[in-house]
Amino acid sequence: MSKSTKRSPKENESKQLPIYQHKTKLIQAVRESSFLVVTGETGSGKTTQLPQYLHEAGFCKDGKIGITQPRRVAAITVAQRVAQEMQCTLGRDVGYQVRFDDCTSSDTMVKYMTDGCLLREILADPGLSQYSVVILDEVHERSLNTDILLGLIKKMFSNPAKATKGRSIPLKVVVMSATLETDKLSAFFSNCPVFSIPGRTFPVTCMFGSVVGPKDVESTGYVKEVVKVALDVHTSEMAGDILVFLTGQSEIERACDLLYEKAECIDYRYDVQDQTVEGLLILPLYGSMPTDQQRQIFQPPPPGIRKCVVATNIAATSLTINGIKYIVDSGFVKQLNHNSRVGMDILEVVPISKSEALQRAGRAGRTSAGKCFRIYTKEFWEKCMPEYTVPEIQRTSLTAVVLTLKCLGVHDVIRFPYLDCPEERFILEALKQLYQFDAIDRRGKVTQLGELMVEFPLHPGLTRALLKAASLDCQELLLPVAAMLSVENIFIRPGKPEKQKEADKKHKKLAAKTGGMNDFATLLSVFQSCKSSDRPSAWCKENWIHWRALKSAFSVETQLREILLRLQQKRDFPVEAFDGNRSELLRRCLCTGYFTNVARRSVGKVFCTMDGHGSMVHIHPSSSLFDQEAELNWVIFHDVLVTSRVYIRTVCPIRYEWVKDLLPKLHEVDVYELSSVAREEVTDKEIIKWETREAAKRQPEVSTEEVM
Ligand code: CDP
Ligand code: MG
Repeated sequence: MSKSTKRSPKENESKQLPIYQHKTKLIQAVRESSFLVVTGETGSGKTTQLPQYLHEAGFCKDGKIGITQPRRVAAITVAQRVAQEMQCTLGRDVGYQVRFDDCTSSDTMVKYMTDGCLLREILADPGLSQYSVVILDEVHERSLNTDILLGLIKKMFSNPAKATKGRSIPLKVVVMSATLETDKLSAFFSNCPVFSIPGRTFPVTCMFGSVVGPKDVESTGYVKEVVKVALDVHTSEMAGDILVFLTGQSEIERACDLLYEKAECIDYRYDVQDQTVEGLLILPLYGSMPTDQQRQIFQPPPPGIRKCVVATNIAATSLTINGIKYIVDSGFVKQLNHNSRVGMDILEVVPISKSEALQRAGRAGRTSAGKCFRIYTKEFWEKCMPEYTVPEIQRTSLTAVVLTLKCLGVHDVIRFPYLDCPEERFILEALKQLYQFDAIDRRGKVTQLGELMVEFPLHPGLTRALLKAASLDCQELLLPVAAMLSVENIFIRPGKPEKQKEADKKHKKLAAKTGGMNDFATLLSVFQSCKSSDRPSAWCKENWIHWRALKSAFSVETQLREILLRLQQKRDFPVEAFDGNRSELLRRCLCTGYFTNVARRSVGKVFCTMDGHGSMVHIHPSSSLFDQEAELNWVIFHDVLVTSRVYIRTVCPIRYEWVKDLLPKLHEVDVYELSSVAREEVTDKEIIKWETREAAKRQPEVSTEEVM
C-alpha cells in the first residue's frame, strides 16, 4: 500500500458514520468470540468500515480478512470505495474477486468477494486457512450461497480438528445483517453475542398510488407510471435526490429514455416548484453496468441539480446512495424462482414482499425525513404482497450447491445444518439431476466426472456438454458457446421500431451465416467473427451486438479454457473418436448436457418437453428457428421464458437417436430411493434390489423412433 501520512479525503466522512462510535467495542467483541452477529441499519458503515477496523487492529497478521457479498456489483464497488479510503491501489492491499473477475494479488489483506467465490475457495481449502476473519455480509438477503456458507462454517466448527487445521489462532466469523433475524442467527451459532449498531433514521411518509392494483400483478405496464410519478416528484417536491426501484436493465433503460425525453420539456422557470432545482441528472444502476459508470452514482450531483437514480433492488440494501430523500417504488422485483409448471428455474418479475417495501422506503430517511411514493394501491399491498421474501434456498434449484456439498464430503445433504431447510423435493430434484448428468452414482457418491464438473462455475448441464466436447477434442466449439451463455444478452434491442427492424435484419444475417437453424451455432459464429475482426468494437456496432458483453465473453472463454487445461494436465481425459461434421459435433455435445431440455413437436407450432413435465412450449420469436418449426421434430433449448405462453429460447434441432439413450435417464431414477441414499449409506444388497426393480420398470418412453 502506498502509505501516506496525508489524511484520506474520505476520513472525515467515515467518522460521521454510526459505526464509528462503536469502533473499540466492536474490535473487542470480535477478539472475544469465535462468532459474532453484527446488525445495524443499511448505511451505518458495516460493510465499508468493519474490515478496515479489523485491519487496523492487526487481525491481518494471521491471515486475510474476507468479506462476502451476495451481489457481484456490491463486492466490486465496495472494494473500490475501501481502497480509496485506505489510500491504496485496488487489487493490492484491498481487492475483490467475483466470478470470472479476480482483482487481488498476493498482497491482498482485505478481500471482498461474492459468496459464490468463497464457496469455491472452501472446496480447495476446507479450513479457510488463508483467513483470520471471515465476514459473511448481507445475510438478511438470504442468498443461496450465503445460506450454504452459514451451514458449512457451523459444521466446520463442530469438528475442532478441521477448524484449527493449519492455523495458529482460530478463525473468527462475523455475520452481518440489517436488523433481521438476529436472534435466529445467534441461536444458529451456539448463542453467540449480537452487536447492534444503533442507527439514526428519520421518518418516511409512504403514499400509495391509484394505478397498479391486484389485476396488474402480471403486467409490466408500470414503467410509464413510475416515470410519471418520478417527474411529479421532481417538479413538485423540494430539493433532494430521487431513487426509483424497477426490476432490470431493459426496463431501467426504457425508464431513463422516457425521463430524458420528458425532463427536457420542463420549463424550470414555471414548472418546478423549488426554484433552487435547475435540472435533473438521470443515472441508471443495474448489475451488469460497467463499474466506472456505477461509481458515478455515489458522487454528489452538481449544485442546483437533482439526481435521479433508476435502480434494481441492488439499491435496497447492498448499496447506499447518500442524499436520497424520495423513493419511487414500482412494487416489483426480478426473482429467480423454481417454476413447477416447467420444472426449471426462471427469472420472473413478481411483487415484492411487505418487508422489502419497508426496506425500500427506509432508503429515503437516512439523513433527514423523506417520502416514499408507491405506484401501487393499498389493495395491491394487502392482497398481492407477501409478508416476507422467501429465502432463495427455498425457491430455486439446488443442483450446483448439492454437488459442491457432496464434493466437500457432506454426504447427507438432507440433514445438513440449514438455517432454513429447503423443501425435501428440491433436494431430491437436485440429486436426480446430478445423477442424470452422471455427477453422482446410485449411492449418491460423487463420480470422477462430478469432481471435474464442480471445478467449473457453470450450470452442471453446460459443464457436462463442455466436458463431452473436451473428450472429443472439440472444446474449441463449446468453450465460446459456454462463455456466450454466461454473459448478459449480446443482441441489442433498440426501442425505436425502425431501428429495431434494422437490428433484426442484421441479427438474421448473422444467424443465416450458420445456416439459420441453430442458435447455439450463431453464438459461436458471432464470437468467432468478432474476435477475428480487425476492429471488434466497430464490428459489434455495425451488427447491433453489445461490445461490452462480447468483451466479457472473451475473458470468460479464456478462463474456462484455463480451468480445462489445468484439469487436463492433472488427470487423464478419456478421448473418443468422432467422424461427423462440425455442426453435428456441436449439437451432439450439447445433447449430453441438454437432454433434460429436449422438446418434440406435438401439433402445429407447439412442442412438448420430454422431462416428465410434458409442458407445451413454443419457440421464442428471437430464435432463428422461429419461422421454421415445420421442418423440426426434435429440439434442445437453453432456457425458457414464461409469459402467457411458455417460450423456449436459444434452440437447436437434434436427431432423436442422439438422445435416445439419454432420455430414459430422465425417468429411471426413483427420487425416493435417492433420498434414502442421501440419508444413509445403502448396502450393496439394497442397490441390487433397486436396480432389478428399475430394470423391470424401464419401458421405452418413446415408441416411435423419429429423426428430424
Ligand atoms: O454496510 P452498511 O449498509 O452498514 O454501510 P456501508 O455500505 O458501509 O456504507 C457506508 C457509507 O459509505 C454510506 O454512506 C455509503 O453511501 C458510502 N459508500 C460510498 O460512498 N461508496 C461506495 N461504493 C460504498 C459506500
Ligand atoms: Mg452493507
